[in-house]
Amino acid sequence: MDKSAPKAIHLKDYAPPPYLIDTVDLTFDLGEEVTRVRSSLQLRANPVRLPDGAPVPLVLDGQELKLVSLAIDGRTLEPAEYAIGPESLTIFDPPAAFALEVETELKPQENTSLEGLYRTSGNFCTQCEAEGFRKITYFLDRPDVMARYRTTITADALKYPVLLSNGNLVAASKMGHDGRHTVTWEDPFAKPCYLFALVAGVLVHVEDSYVTRSGRTVTLRIYVEPGNQDKCDHAMRSLKKSMAWDENVYGLEYDLDIFMIVAVGDFNMGAMENKGLNVFNTKYILARPESATDTDFLGVEAVVAHEYFHNWTGNRVTCRDWFQLSLKEGLTVFRDQEFSSDLNSRPVKRIADVQRLRAAQFPEDSGPMAHPIRPDSYIEINNFYTTTVYEKGAEVVRMIHTLLGAEGYRKGIDLYFERHDGQAVTCDDFVAAMEDATGKDLSQFRRWYSQAGTPELDISGEYDGHGRTYRLTVRQSCPPSPGQPVKQPYHIPLALGLLDPQGADIPLRLKTEDVPKGTSRVLDVTEAEQVFEFADVPAPPVPSLLRGFSAPVKLRMSYTDDDLTFLMANDSDAFNRWEAGQTLGTRLLLGLVEDRAAGRPLELSRGFLDALDKILNDPALDHAFAAQALTLPSEGYLGQQMPVIDVDGIHEVRGFARKAIAAHLRDDLLSTYRALGGNEPFAIDAAIGRRSLKNLALGYLMSLEDAEAVELCVGQFHNAHAMTDVIAALGLLNDTHLPQRDAALARFYETWKNEPLVVDKWFSIQAMSERPETLAEVRSLLNHPAFEIRNPNKVYALIGGFAGGNAVRFHDSSGAGYEFLADQVLTLNGLNPQVASRMVKLFARWRKYDDRRQAFMRAQLERIVGAPNLSPDVFEIASKSLQ
Ligand code: PHE
Ligand code: ZN
Repeated sequence: MDKSAPKAIHLKDYAPPPYLIDTVDLTFDLGEEVTRVRSSLQLRANPVRLPDGAPVPLVLDGQELKLVSLAIDGRTLEPAEYAIGPESLTIFDPPAAFALEVETELKPQENTSLEGLYRTSGNFCTQCEAEGFRKITYFLDRPDVMARYRTTITADALKYPVLLSNGNLVAASKMGHDGRHTVTWEDPFAKPCYLFALVAGVLVHVEDSYVTRSGRTVTLRIYVEPGNQDKCDHAMRSLKKSMAWDENVYGLEYDLDIFMIVAVGDFNMGAMENKGLNVFNTKYILARPESATDTDFLGVEAVVAHEYFHNWTGNRVTCRDWFQLSLKEGLTVFRDQEFSSDLNSRPVKRIADVQRLRAAQFPEDSGPMAHPIRPDSYIEINNFYTTTVYEKGAEVVRMIHTLLGAEGYRKGIDLYFERHDGQAVTCDDFVAAMEDATGKDLSQFRRWYSQAGTPELDISGEYDGHGRTYRLTVRQSCPPSPGQPVKQPYHIPLALGLLDPQGADIPLRLKTEDVPKGTSRVLDVTEAEQVFEFADVPAPPVPSLLRGFSAPVKLRMSYTDDDLTFLMANDSDAFNRWEAGQTLGTRLLLGLVEDRAAGRPLELSRGFLDALDKILNDPALDHAFAAQALTLPSEGYLGQQMPVIDVDGIHEVRGFARKAIAAHLRDDLLSTYRALGGNEPFAIDAAIGRRSLKNLALGYLMSLEDAEAVELCVGQFHNAHAMTDVIAALGLLNDTHLPQRDAALARFYETWKNEPLVVDKWFSIQAMSERPETLAEVRSLLNHPAFEIRNPNKVYALIGGFAGGNAVRFHDSSGAGYEFLADQVLTLNGLNPQVASRMVKLFARWRKYDDRRQAFMRAQLERIVGAPNLSPDVFEIASKSLQ
């Protein structure tokens, strides 16, 4: 690393702030060329750090700001009394308590990073998490500095009729002679600056209200660009459901008179929980059946809930420092997952969440960027909004819930709020509340916060017919990760059951117990090796392990193929019925990859085909569940199971298996398709499951590319009402060389060219085509008039779709895909480092490929690390990937 390489920040160096800020009074003068920000702060020395007053300088964070004036208690400071650095403003000798007035200027119209104050579609918008507030004004930009805010906004009344900030509106002026108007907002709750927000522009809103259980009426508003009012119903309904759910399940009520959401087209992430003024990516607000898929609808419901839930888990109780990010994110993801499970099908939701964890988090946890859910260090905090902090973090909270039970967990949550409302705290404070409320010892469990890597469970079972006992031997281990060569054993909740030969659950009594404790129970696995012995087991059982995926681990158990088909058919735990099919499918497909490599003929096992047949023809099965159970493990998941990922082998073999299944089940697939294929009116209910099973059937049929399937597919594309069905058909045509493919893509674009979110789908579908021409097409789509490299959604759709969603084309052995991605990373680096960093992460797993591909990817990473003006965001990912 050269001298100019950005430095890492360490958790162990945490120290409380030397100064505290009690109140913040902001005045924004929004302009086309220059925006002026006046900030009046009430500061005082922090008694924890400076018990005798204020002997240390005050160092405020600030970036890309022009300082206009600076005064303490009304006196303008002399130049010798302060210093301005590239990222700070230091006041050498402040008093122990004082008012600071800082006036700065900035140019939001030039801000392409979408962090701080920026423009989107002509409007003004802010994004302050994690450290964007320092791009607005000089401040102690850290979450343990909590203050009460008052915000005044002045702007042209015609260009910016709507002026919003956090809290309650306390004053508004009519348009003055200068054509400008002014409003003032006041937020009664102390908050860290990352929760500050301001929005100004031409926006329309839909309004509703919610009466809290204590009887207060809250105004609910969703602000969108004109023309989008008709796409807010689902988000508004989701918001009201979230408010009710949090009252019922957590006893938590909303605390302001108004709750506002603004949807913007240019946003790096999904959404942001600013106090009383959530800002959303349009993708997670706008939804109508004609233009949004079922997945989009479920995404809106989940993200609206997630941000709303942050009002308590994140805002009322916030993080002491950014190493504690999972305190709010893991907990809030767990809350939104449970919300969605309560509203929809619990097993189907659990399967989707586990698929997501395995597809994204497991690879992260075994690669160069592996970190604990509470990282020890970072160079750029924006790089740590990871699937580990979020999704693995949620699994850790889920395990606490499993270990304590729903009631114990709720007691812990209640104590957490009783102790910490209004504070900035740590993950450890959360765990301590859980322990103190229940008496459960979670000291070993805390290793989930400090150790990275996915633990592995090796389980074997032994039946003793004489003693009618069944012994389970459980071994755990965890592979090394960067900076952590050796891991201590985890405390793992292992939920399990034992199935008798008829498929019924056996009552579970450990040899040390007098009476059985149910037929599904949670064992505490704490040792590197541990034996559990069950009594009164009448016949050799088939164990159903890790029910509901009770811990984020990899499970190895020597099941026979017959055991797995037995579990697929009989397990009372729906998740494990699905899991057994995936385990069997993975085993068979990996066997076929080996067969292909050895030049042996490919053949799919009869037993597996029969098991799939049973699922397809089981009238009792939930349709959405059946669709998941009939889906083969993804190419990405199969790749993770190989020491060296055979990209082409996996792609070919999975395609072969799909065809073999389709040929075997053709008639049943056709009748399933016909039975479910009615063009029914749209609803977000069981119809989602019907559509997914129907489209799964269509997908299998299309793999045969016969005339009948193509006709059904083209017909569906043209006639379907729901976007889910249109997209499913288009996605299938997209992989073919049929003449109907280009016609369908052209027609889709013509129909939807004025809907940016639908155009994103059009970009990503093409980027994910398995056709050999795809890279050339993606390159030319970069020049399409609808593509905009400054818009994150467009980048994620086209560049992300190709490099992250199209393994066989991205990893083309020519290396052309890698060069393409590196080119884009370097372009984005200068525009939007956060987006660039997300893209460069797609190289992180380069060591999992063969030598030739490794050499190509390594060369591109080196090219990136050597590029001039590299952002810390991209530098951190690229350099750590090469280590
Ligand atoms: N805090 C947001 C969430 O998870 C995510 C986010 C992080 C958004 C940083 C913008 C910037 O809900
Ligand atoms: Zn969040």
